[in-house]
Amino acid sequence: MSTNSLLIKNGRVIDPSQNKDAVQDIFVLNGKIQALGKNLEIPKDEPLPEIDATGFVVTPGWIDIHTHLREPGGTHKETIETGTRSAAAGGFTSIACMANTQPVNDSSYITTYIRQKVATDSPVNVFPIGAVTKGLKGEELAEIGSMREAGIVAISDDGKTVMNAYLFRKALDYSRRFDLTVISHAEDLNLKGLGVMNEGYNSARFGLRGIPKAAEEVIVARDIYLAELTGAKLHIAHASTAGSVALIREAKRRGIRVTAEVTPHHLTLTDEVVGTYDTNTKVAPPLREKEDIEALQEAVADGTIDALASDHAPHSREEKEVEYDHADFGMVGLETAFPLYYAKVLKNHWDLSKMVAAMTLKPAQIIGVKKGTLQLGSDADISIFDPGQEWVVDRSQFQSKSQNSPFHGWTMRGKPVFTIVGGKIVYRGNI
Ligand code: DOR
Ligand code: ZN
Repeated sequence: MSTNSLLIKNGRVIDPSQNKDAVQDIFVLNGKIQALGKNLEIPKDEPLPEIDATGFVVTPGWIDIHTHLREPGGTHKETIETGTRSAAAGGFTSIACMANTQPVNDSSYITTYIRQKVATDSPVNVFPIGAVTKGLKGEELAEIGSMREAGIVAISDDGKTVMNAYLFRKALDYSRRFDLTVISHAEDLNLKGLGVMNEGYNSARFGLRGIPKAAEEVIVARDIYLAELTGAKLHIAHASTAGSVALIREAKRRGIRVTAEVTPHHLTLTDEVVGTYDTNTKVAPPLREKEDIEALQEAVADGTIDALASDHAPHSREEKEVEYDHADFGMVGLETAFPLYYAKVLKNHWDLSKMVAAMTLKPAQIIGVKKGTLQLGSDADISIFDPGQEWVVDRSQFQSKSQNSPFHGWTMRGKPVFTIVGGKIVYRGNI
C-alpha cells in the first residue's frame, strides 16, 4: 500500500453529494476513494494506516474559494507555504487564492509562478483566481484566455471593485467563452470614500467615517443586471447586508446565474465591536448590524447564499498597529472559519449537512473543479472534525504568518482533527 492509502473507521460520514449521513468506513487507495460502507473488510497484504473516527464527523474536503495568500510580493504577511499550512490546520483541503498579489495575477506568467510554488510548498490544493483587469487598475482587461490555459478557475479584482461597468460587462462576456465564473467585490469606491466602518449610529458614536450599505448594494444590483445581460456566471464575494441578500434572492428567482458567499466575521460580529478600536475589526466590506447577520444566516439556510468562505486576509503587525483610519482592511480566517460556522449549527440556525454542502459541493461547483465529494473514484480529499472539542483561539499558535484575528481568546466548539489531501494526512490536530 502506498502512503496515500488508508482506512477511516466508524466516523459519521456526511456527504451531501450523495445525500449521505451515516456511520461508515472509508477506504482510500492510492489517493482515491475506493470504498465507502459499514464495517468494510479490507484485504490487507501490507499494514494499512487506520484512523479511528469514532465520535468524529467525516466529510468531503472543505474548499475555501476566497483566500489571500500574498505571494508573490506580500511575503511579510503570508507566503504560499504558511497560508496553505494555515488552510490545512483549519481543515481545508482546497483553497482558491485571490489575484491581489504584487505583481497582480493578471498574466499566465504569474499564474504559472503560483502553481509552481504551490507544487513544492503547499500541502493542500490551490486554485488560482486571475485578475479581471491589468494590475487591478480597472482600465483594461487582464490576459484572461492565457491565464485560463495556465490554470485559473475564476476571475476577480477582489480587494477592488471594477468601477467601469462597460469593462465589467466585457469581462462577463469573455468569461463565458472561457467558462469562468466572475467574482465581484461589491463596493462602490466613490460611495465608500475614506470610510473605515459601517455607516450608521455606531460610526457616529465612535467618530469614524462610515461606509453605507448602499455602497455594496448598488454594485450587487449592477452586477446582477450585467449577468442577466451577458448570461455569464456571476459570484458575489462576501455578501454583508440584508439588502444584498434580497437582491441575490430575487435574481435567483428570476433565473439569473448568480451565486454568493458569506464570511465567518460578517455572520458573527456587528459594528459594535469597532468601538474597541481594535484594528483587527477593520475589514472590507465592513462589519454590519444585527439585522444583517440575521438575513445572512437565513440566506445560508434557504440556499440564497451558496458557499461559506473565509476571506483570509493576513496583515502584519506594522500594518495593523496604527490608527484605525490607517490600518489595512482584512483579518485572517482560515483557522477560525470552521468553528464560527459550526456555531450556527449548534444554535440550530443551520442543518449540518447544509453547512457541509456550503463548504464542499457548492464551492466546487462555483469554481468548476471536480472536488467536494466522496463518490467512489474521486480524489481522497477528506476533512474530519471533532464536534465536541472545546478550545480557545490563541493567535500565537496560528500556522498563518499573521495574527490579525478579532477572535483571539474566544472559546470555540468543534475542531478539525484530520485534514487529508489525496489520501495523505496533511494535518493532525489534538484528539
Ligand atoms: O478586508 C479585506 N481585505 N477585504 C478585501 O476585499 C481584500 C482583503 C485584502 O486583500 O486584504
Ligand atoms: Zn473582497
